[in-house]
Amino acid sequence: MSGRKPPRGGASSGRGGRSINQRVKKGRGLKNSSRRWIERQINDPYVQRAKAEGMRSRAAYKLIEIDDRHGLLKKGDRVIDLGAAPGGWCQVAAGRVGSTDADKRIAAIDYLEMDTMPGVEILQTDFLDDDAPERLLEALGGPPDVVLSDMAAPTIGHRNTDHLRTMHLCEVAADFAVKTLKPGGHFLAKTFQGGTEKDLLDLLKRNFKSVAHVKPAASRAESVELYILAKDFRGNG
Ligand SMILES: C[S@@+](CC[C@H](N)C(=O)[O-])C[C@H]1O[C@@H](n2cnc3c(N)ncnc32)[C@H](O)[C@@H]1O
Repeated sequence: MSGRKPPRGGASSGRGGRSINQRVKKGRGLKNSSRRWIERQINDPYVQRAKAEGMRSRAAYKLIEIDDRHGLLKKGDRVIDLGAAPGGWCQVAAGRVGSTDADKRIAAIDYLEMDTMPGVEILQTDFLDDDAPERLLEALGGPPDVVLSDMAAPTIGHRNTDHLRTMHLCEVAADFAVKTLKPGGHFLAKTFQGGTEKDLLDLLKRNFKSVAHVKPAASRAESVELYILAKDFRGNG
């Protein structure tokens, strides 16, 4: 899978995608916010590319870009994908580590239903459930080399509350990574600009050789979304 950049400017995607800057007519019974959402979707080069390339989500390109740049996923790695639906990150991870049904190397969790995928063991469960960590490790059949979390809490429109709930998911994911990763392993998780708490950063800095915030091009510029990348887990020994 390539890490090629999306088409830019007002041209078409060149793969049967629509041209950019299409508008949805007013007066079709749509709220302004819904119309803007539809316009953003049809004009988004990553959405078009995902469709053309058979990826389950535009989010797949975030992981592709981060992995191309930072080299997280290696052939034979075991990977846990937290908040995996609809499965774009799973597709990328399964391809890059070479996971197959005969030798499953990916365990994914989401409380939303997700279509099955070759090489991926899917748990439809809330990651915050007490037994979720144990079930994930059991499904993976060994400790992970990489823990990924793209988990985001459903937004309620109250910015602070939305941030706090997603940050909580990030903290629980980090705690899980620190308890389960193999030495030398990596952790990548969704966070927000200005949202990574000092305690979380301290935990990651103590346990990983490098910690950095990353914003792939596929993450919308206007979004406060950011990823935290912690590399080279020092191990629990
Ligand atoms: C941005 S989407 C993930 C997209 C995915 N990385 C992809 O490439 O298709 C975030 C997901 O996190 C899931 N999620 C949020 N909180 C969760 C929780 N407590 N347990 C499991 N999944 C959760 C949501 O259901 C949602 O599907």
